[in-house]
Amino acid sequence: MDVKSMNPKLIVHGGAWNIPENECAAHLEGLQKAVDHVYPLLRSGLTALDAVEKAVNMLELDPTFDAGRGAFLNAVGEIELDAMIMDGSNLDYGAVAGVQNYLHPVSIARKVMERTEHCFLIGNGAQRFADRMEFVQVKPEELLTEREREYYERIKHDPGFTTRRPFDRSGCDTVGAVALDQYGNLAAATSTGGTPRKLPGRVGDSPIIGAGAYADNLLGAASATGWGESILKVLLSKTTCDMLRTANAMDAAERAIELLGERVKGLGGVIVISNNGDYGFAHNTPQMAFAYMADDQIEVNISAYS
Ligand code: GLY
Repeated sequence: MDVKSMNPKLIVHGGAWNIPENECAAHLEGLQKAVDHVYPLLRSGLTALDAVEKAVNMLELDPTFDAGRGAFLNAVGEIELDAMIMDGSNLDYGAVAGVQNYLHPVSIARKVMERTEHCFLIGNGAQRFADRMEFVQVKPEELLTEREREYYERIKHDPGFTTRRPFDRSGCDTVGAVALDQYGNLAAATSTGGTPRKLPGRVGDSPIIGAGAYADNLLGAASATGWGESILKVLLSKTTCDMLRTANAMDAAERAIELLGERVKGLGGVIVISNNGDYGFAHNTPQMAFAYMADDQIEVNISAYS
């Protein structure tokens, strides 16, 4: 790849579900803010890896989304966060699961990738590592929104509640970002609070390589959102990247989502950028919120399932 030969691209998502009308504006605003801030940096030479981390950091801070601040509560009323990041230039990958009291799990995941011999740390071990890396612990109240506290109170004793239909509610979902930088490198990152009223210790798709995200300069990079237990079974992000062998990015995303629906009756969405710079997205949930920026053109959209 020629140095500085590519036009940078950035796509971010803020969940795929039934986004209530009164929450659409906040979704669009949060996604737009992330690409407005990060894309100019990418144009100025920021790497794809830094770009996806920065974009996800902004979405983790935004209480609109189920990641960092604004995350769902689990069955015992606690927040447990999962995240991953992947570098398409060398397939390096870092992840954390079940971390509490940190605003930026994706940045802890990056440190796992860069500062340990490992790829994935969970629970107490991940927390101890985060402390050692001098991530500041915040009080649980800094992550908890009134919206999620109220929702938890409503569902905590509801015998009919199931996380198999996490999209029935008013609520929010996982965030993710995919970038191509001017050096031709791809990266992807995903961060989540998981599903509402999940069992403590439950890990979904988001921190799992190939499921929550995947990046390979030889193919493309993708980030997924939606019902984790189904996304895991078809490794949605890797499947989307594999589809790029024979399809453009939009068709690859659509085929992967078709497979998710047909093979495991799954629900979700995926964003993707191919290594030649085309982008795609698809979902089989009622809606998916995403923002895409390239060549100073921006598309911010809540796509409706058709
Ligand atoms: N997609 C997020 C989760 O199921 O945990």
